[in-house]
Amino acid sequence: MAKVLTKYVCQSCGYVSPRWVGKCPNCSAWNTFVEEAQRPLKASRKPAGVSSNVEPISLADVEREDVPRIKTNFNEFDRVLGGGLVPGSLVLLGGDPGIGKSTLMMQLALQMRDLIVVYVTGEESVRQIKLRAERLDASKAPNILLLAETNLDLILDVLERDIPDLLIVDSIQTMYRPGLESAPGSVGQMRESTALLLRLAKTRNLPIFVVGHVTKEGIIAGPKVIEHMVDTVLQFEGEAHYSYRILRALKNRFGSTNEIGIFEMQEDGLREVKNASEVFLSQRHYGSSGSTVVASIEGTRPILVEVQALVTSTNYGLPQRNCTGFDYRRLALLLAVLEKRVGMNLGQNDVFVNIAGGIKIDEPAVDMGIAVSITSSLRDIPVDSNAVAVGEIGLGGEIRTVGQIEKRVQEAAKLGFKKIIIPQNNLKSVKTQGEIEIIGVEKIEQAIEELVG
Ligand code: TYD
Ligand code: MG
Repeated sequence: MAKVLTKYVCQSCGYVSPRWVGKCPNCSAWNTFVEEAQRPLKASRKPAGVSSNVEPISLADVEREDVPRIKTNFNEFDRVLGGGLVPGSLVLLGGDPGIGKSTLMMQLALQMRDLIVVYVTGEESVRQIKLRAERLDASKAPNILLLAETNLDLILDVLERDIPDLLIVDSIQTMYRPGLESAPGSVGQMRESTALLLRLAKTRNLPIFVVGHVTKEGIIAGPKVIEHMVDTVLQFEGEAHYSYRILRALKNRFGSTNEIGIFEMQEDGLREVKNASEVFLSQRHYGSSGSTVVASIEGTRPILVEVQALVTSTNYGLPQRNCTGFDYRRLALLLAVLEKRVGMNLGQNDVFVNIAGGIKIDEPAVDMGIAVSITSSLRDIPVDSNAVAVGEIGLGGEIRTVGQIEKRVQEAAKLGFKKIIIPQNNLKSVKTQGEIEIIGVEKIEQAIEELVG
């Protein structure tokens, strides 16, 4: 094989060097050189100035093409993709190591029985893959072909001979092109490998999934460096000690990035969670203080979750503030508001806040629930267990409006809650009527009054 000529390019200023250097002679940045293949531009046959048959076309004349999508038979997955897999698309699945990316990919391959799927594994041996497939109770899947190889040029040779219906590459960080000197997992290798796969996807109309580990700074680059090249970026996330996993689209050329898919990791693989609120509330403990139900919007779906708080007196040293599933700085802000506007004294208390079920919530609409839980725990008075709290808290202690109020109210009503406390200004846009009592509040004190009494 002819040796590929390479060059090193500074990622900060574009300076080109024939060999790797630690510090850029041009912009003085450290560690910014990345190996790239040199591809001399082929000289155009036409002399300059001669018109070609490239012509602009009016936008109105462009016909819309409805791409038929391939269903993955995983509803949650199809929804996140925007209605199924688009042929010829390159999809990146990122996530922390051990979160379940390989499991998700294998299950997907197992479910698409009518398609020939090539599963390229650079991390595990074919026996390990077999073990996993047995756990997933489908070891006799004739449609899956395994390829344990990391040399992408060899992999492409195999694929060119016999093109499958779907290709899965697990993971992009283990793949390399022999022409480049740098190690697999380096920025240069990842970009080259991705570019090659992208070409394969587009020229053969082959859908490809590439798995990428999110890394905490290190010699292996994270999937971020190839996000701009792929069509769709999916992220698989969850807390290591909980079984729930959330699939999110961070970028999608073929659909919205609003949708999320919820899965639960079980002994025999991932299960779709269709009724998220019921699942997240199933372990709720009634009658104890410090627990409030909030209506959050994840993607376009409302989800009811329990927020818990525990306030205890500080035994020694500085009071602790601890948060799981919620932004720590936001908690500090809410505590400050409670002290200043409600007159609560929390200077001698440890405060722990937890979003039950191990999911993360970063929308401010859960503020009210958190403030109410903290108050309830401090006073040791249980929160009305038939009520749901929704509202953002401002620095003045005022309750600010939240988006998509109707969906939240409906979800609370659907699950049999009797009362929902919402921002006063949201009240006029709620249409739901019937069983559930809807109360608008303007100040955090009112919400506390309604819920903790
Ligand atoms: P894996 O898919 O290997 O993660 P990744 O590819 O993202 O690194 O799965 C990791 C974890 O999932 C592992 O700790 C075991 C667990 N697991 C189950 O709980 N149930 C199962 O059926 C399978 C296959 C894995
Ligand atoms: Mg894996």
